[in-house]
Amino acid sequence: MNTPVGPSPSFSTHLETVVQRVTPILEAYGHDSLVIHSGTQRLAFLDDQSFPLRSNPHFLWWVPLRDAPDCLLQFTPGRKPVLVFHSADDFWHKPAQLPDAAWTQCFDIRTVNSAGAARTALDPISGLTAFVGEPFEGLDDFGFSSVNPQQLLRRLHEQRVRKTPYEIDCLRAASLLGARGHLAAEAAFHHGDSEFAIHQAFLDGCMLREQELPYQAIVALNDNCATLHYQQLERRVPAERHSMLIDAGAQRHGYASDITRTYAAAGGDFQSLIDGMEALQQSLCAAVRPGIDWRELHLTTHQLLAELLIEQQLIHTDPEQAVHSGLTSVFLPHGLGHLLGLQVHDVGGRLPDPDGPQLDPPAGHPYLRLTRILEPGFVVTMEPGLYFIDMLLEKAMTGQHGNAINWRRVQALRPCGGIRIEDNLVVTANGCENLTRDAFQILKSGR
Ligand code: GLY
Ligand code: MN
Ligand code: MN
Repeated sequence: MNTPVGPSPSFSTHLETVVQRVTPILEAYGHDSLVIHSGTQRLAFLDDQSFPLRSNPHFLWWVPLRDAPDCLLQFTPGRKPVLVFHSADDFWHKPAQLPDAAWTQCFDIRTVNSAGAARTALDPISGLTAFVGEPFEGLDDFGFSSVNPQQLLRRLHEQRVRKTPYEIDCLRAASLLGARGHLAAEAAFHHGDSEFAIHQAFLDGCMLREQELPYQAIVALNDNCATLHYQQLERRVPAERHSMLIDAGAQRHGYASDITRTYAAAGGDFQSLIDGMEALQQSLCAAVRPGIDWRELHLTTHQLLAELLIEQQLIHTDPEQAVHSGLTSVFLPHGLGHLLGLQVHDVGGRLPDPDGPQLDPPAGHPYLRLTRILEPGFVVTMEPGLYFIDMLLEKAMTGQHGNAINWRRVQALRPCGGIRIEDNLVVTANGCENLTRDAFQILKSGR
């Protein structure tokens, strides 16, 4: 596999941007410095086994270093950022190591061999220093003026919404890795493998361990495709094979991809429905540009879905009525997409003004995570779906939608579960870059 071994050369520019964005925020809130913790390895209850570390995304925004617990980043405006790097004296585990990479030059690095020694390695804490991170034992002794202050956090979240060129490079690499995994998983599906084996193929394809994935991969066969965040991996090969939905991503320096594809085992009605959803998803991608209100695009999706459901003879009513009555939500109960970055559901999606109120989703669409007007530098997922969800169909059958649904067609397609097609898009100055389609294109053309 031919992926770069270190962060892109633009990391130092990224860090300069981070410094420029954070400096006035600290001043505005009366902080003279900021300390960010990387995260702590947590033990399971009554056990000596730890959960996998999920690094603090604010730390990763500053330092491209995963798998390094109990490190501290200290930023004082006007000074080179300090990285207190914790490399434990430990003969049970391999201590964290700093890579031989150019980004290390951007920090004043102070290596310590115990978490307890980290405090003394920091520049003196003045009493106006804010701390951002998960609280840990001994934190009170540091003397921070505030721990995760809400207003500061909201402003830092907002600064993470518009991605820098370095971050977009990382997201591009994450898409490429994710696409490799998807191609391996697709081959395993067509080979007739179980959900478990397809999941293994995905991991092998992107050369990641399960704990390195940005989110738990969803690998569903047949009616399991109807469970939006299906989490079980059936070891047995099902007696019949109708469909596969795989929602799985990779990460690069903590930046995620979030990709979904749906396949039919054979042609026929389900493939025709996938084709319809593919056209619908692509028309939505084509609409992405600065100035688009994501809430409106979400509602447009329901309008397009209503037309597709009618064309496919799954419902019989007029499209407006199908949207306004909530009938389309029976088939698509989740949001159109969300911000993507260091967190798969990235921060800031409903908060355009850190000092203002949240922007609520449209009435009847509570799960929409992004409610803002798109701007250049936003990275979003585009993930319309169409599902046959028992719980929602049963409610619909006895409720107001009962007569508008073609139950014979629904019954025929129920064993296929559902469809989701998800790409990752960077909003550019006058349109968007589709990281996912580009990644598949690169792999398929052998470049
Ligand atoms: N993979 C979770 C989502 O698509 O939001
Ligand atoms: Mn997804
Ligand atoms: Mn998603």
